[in-house]
This record gives sequence, C-alpha cells and structure tokens, in this order.
Amino acid sequence: MLAELSAKLCAQIQGAATILRTAQRVCILTGAGVSAESGIPTFRDKQTGLWAHYNAEDLASIDGFAREPELVWAWYQWRRELVHDKTPNPAHYALARWQEHITLSHSAQQLTLITQNVDDLHEQAGSTVTHLHGHLNRNRCSQCDTPYNAPIVSTAHQVDFGVALLNCDHCGSYIRPDIVWFGEALPVDAWQTAEDAAANCDVFISIGTSSMVYPAAGLAHLAQQNGATLIEINPNPTSNTVVDITLAAAAGVVMPALLQGIITSSPPSKD
Ligand code: OAD
Ligand code: ZN
Repeated sequence: MLAELSAKLCAQIQGAATILRTAQRVCILTGAGVSAESGIPTFRDKQTGLWAHYNAEDLASIDGFAREPELVWAWYQWRRELVHDKTPNPAHYALARWQEHITLSHSAQQLTLITQNVDDLHEQAGSTVTHLHGHLNRNRCSQCDTPYNAPIVSTAHQVDFGVALLNCDHCGSYIRPDIVWFGEALPVDAWQTAEDAAANCDVFISIGTSSMVYPAAGLAHLAQQNGATLIEINPNPTSNTVVDITLAAAAGVVMPALLQGIITSSPPSKD
C-alpha cells in the first residue's frame, strides 16, 4: 500500500506518526471526505440526478423545511437510500483499530473521535464517536421532538424509504430527520465533548472536511490556541485551516499508513 504513496507523502506520514506515537491526547474531527471512498458523495460535491438543481445548504436548513417540507423530506429519503448499503472504508477501519489498540495495549493515550457526518460508518467500523450534526438514520417530531421510527419497506431487491411526509403520533406535526440544520444549535453534550477534547489535545487531526461550517471548523483554532500540533488529511487541502502538517491524499490511503506508523515501533517506510 505504501508503494502507492510518493516519497514526499511517506516522509510526511512518518513525521506525523512520530508525533502521534508520543502524544498524550489526540482529537480527531472527520467530515464528509472520510466517507467519500465508501461511495457517499461529500456535502459540497455537486448534486446529481434529480437534485442537480438544488443547493444542499438550502435543503439542509430549518428555513428550507419550513418553506417546503415535502422537498426537504424527499431529499433526505433519497440520501438515506443512497447511504443505507454503504460500508466503512480503510480510513474508518484504521481509526477504529487505533482506538482498539489503545484499549488493548492499556496505553495512556486519549483519543477523542468527533464527526460532522450523519452516516454511521465510524460505528459500523467499531469506533466510539461523537456526532456533532446528528444521525441520518433517526427521526423526530419537528415540534415536540418525540423520536419517530419511520417505516421502511424492504424487499429482496430494493429498500423503499418512501417520500410522503409523516406526522407525529403525539401532536400531528411533521416528522423530520434528527439532523442539525443550518440555523440550529449543536447538541450541547456533543459540543462540550468536542470543545474539551480540542482545547486539551496535543495533536488535532482534521480528516476530509472543507472546514467551512462553524462551530465545528472552530475546533482546529481552539486546539491551535492551546498549543496543539494540527494535521490535515485531505486530497484538496483547505486554505482556511490552520495546519502544521498537510497529508494531501485520500483518507483511505493515508490513515492505514499512519496507523501502521503509530502502532508499530518502526515508522512506515516506502519499501
Ligand atoms: P464538505 O463536502 O464541505 O467537504 C468535504 C471535504 O472532503 C473536501 O474538502 C474534500 O476535498 C475532502 N475529500 C474528498 N474526498 C476525500 C477523501 N477521499 N479523503 C479525504 N478527504 C476527502 O463536507 P464537510 O466539511 O463534512 O452538515 O461539511 C461540513 C458540514 O456541512 C456537513 O456536516 C453538513 C454541512 O452543513 C449538516 O448537514 C448538518
Ligand atoms: Zn410531535
């Protein structure tokens, strides 16, 4: 696998692994790019098919749902259809193995994994993860917040999520996805976990995020203000992230190599 990497990237991964081997506290923030190699389009990829004429930021918003609930619900049902059969990729597995390694080796290292993603691929890979932006596979009432299990019709060949709006059993209001939209506050407990981990880490790693959406994007700044080393893993490194080490390649390629360098006593080499 390392043979695919350029000598420069190998050296950068080695440098990052050396720092991470001795770091006491590591905070990792993932975004849509970590799931890209699982076949889930990133948030700011151009929308395709039926949705090509819509802007994801307009659909994922409290105003959008108030204006056109049918449209927003149909978009989320489409996204659920797109995501339901996707599986973790080597980046998700490497992160889970790192957490497992810490537990099994009784290491003193603390690793906090935070995600902006609403898919559950980190959990499927075996990770413990804090979700800042909610869960695609959960619903709740748009007024009284009661959780709602939407029926999903499943046949041997197809899973039909249905596009018709649903109503709350308690108050009759529309059911919505349990996702944090533009214009809404983040879950208090999840944000507290993220802020604490970022403020107290030695190394902050951002993986597959455009770092455009706050408050999540502010976590890197918080970590830097407190003296952390910042590592970014992104094939299209962002210009607006405060970064010390850029690993400019796909997460599914970088993370397994980085993990190898962290958990083995000898750092990864190209041959
Ligand atoms: P974006 O779509 O804004 O950015 C995805 C990033 O992933 C880009 O910088 C890509 O270059 C990078 N990328 C693409 N393929 C990659 C790969 N194989 N490995 C690593 N990186 C790769 O997604 P986010 O930054 O996650 O919130 O967007 C943040 C939030 O914006 C989302 O959580 C969403 C939206 O508001 C909600 O829906 C609540
Ligand atoms: Zn209700």
